[in-house]
Amino acid sequence: MIIDVLTLFPNMYDNFLTESIIKRAIDDKKVKVNIHNIRDYTVYNNKQVDDYPFGGGGGMILMCDPIFRAIDDLKKEDSIVIMMTPSGKVFKQSIAYDLSKNKHLIILCGHYEGFDERIKSIVDLELSIGDYVLTGGELPSMVVMDSVIRLIDGVINENSLMTESFNDGLLDYPNYTKPAEYRGMKVPEVLLSGHHQNIAKYRHEERVRLTKENRPDLLGGNYE
Ligand code: ADE
Repeated sequence: MIIDVLTLFPNMYDNFLTESIIKRAIDDKKVKVNIHNIRDYTVYNNKQVDDYPFGGGGGMILMCDPIFRAIDDLKKEDSIVIMMTPSGKVFKQSIAYDLSKNKHLIILCGHYEGFDERIKSIVDLELSIGDYVLTGGELPSMVVMDSVIRLIDGVINENSLMTESFNDGLLDYPNYTKPAEYRGMKVPEVLLSGHHQNIAKYRHEERVRLTKENRPDLLGGNYE
């Protein structure tokens, strides 16, 4: 997969791309991430990329031309153009899974007050990472990239993906490691029993209990 990111703050991605699983996925050529500065695409004086909104109001709006030029330059036949915006569709695991099957993503990150509305005409998907407003789309784009890249075939061991939260509409079960007792807190007996069927039953029950407790919306009336 190739991911092209358009941003006004390319340095924000330095650590993200050079640590842990994302670094390994890049080193193993599972993904190539190119960070582009939107200012490199402007033809306006002083590298201008934004301006005041027509009709008044605070903040600056990203202009059409630098973004249209960038997309013209980067877009191929099979590209998906994603705009990070708090007014987009709320991102979730099933969207990450769908995106992980694509060959080329282009991710647009706004800053300040957002984008000229006409930019949406060249966007396939508007994504928000949640109901809060951040200073820009850079952190949201990293959230999307992280969750998508780890789902690319061969990046993470399949087994660890199978039971993780959201895959089948349930949260993950609780895990424990050594020691078996810590400050008076004991690991549930069943996990030490070696009885695989009982362990699987216990884990499923824990997933249902946790989901009911923390995210009843995911159950949508099931398991009642
Ligand atoms: N830009 C600012 N806030 C955002 C959010 N919550 N999701 C996506 N992009 C954003």
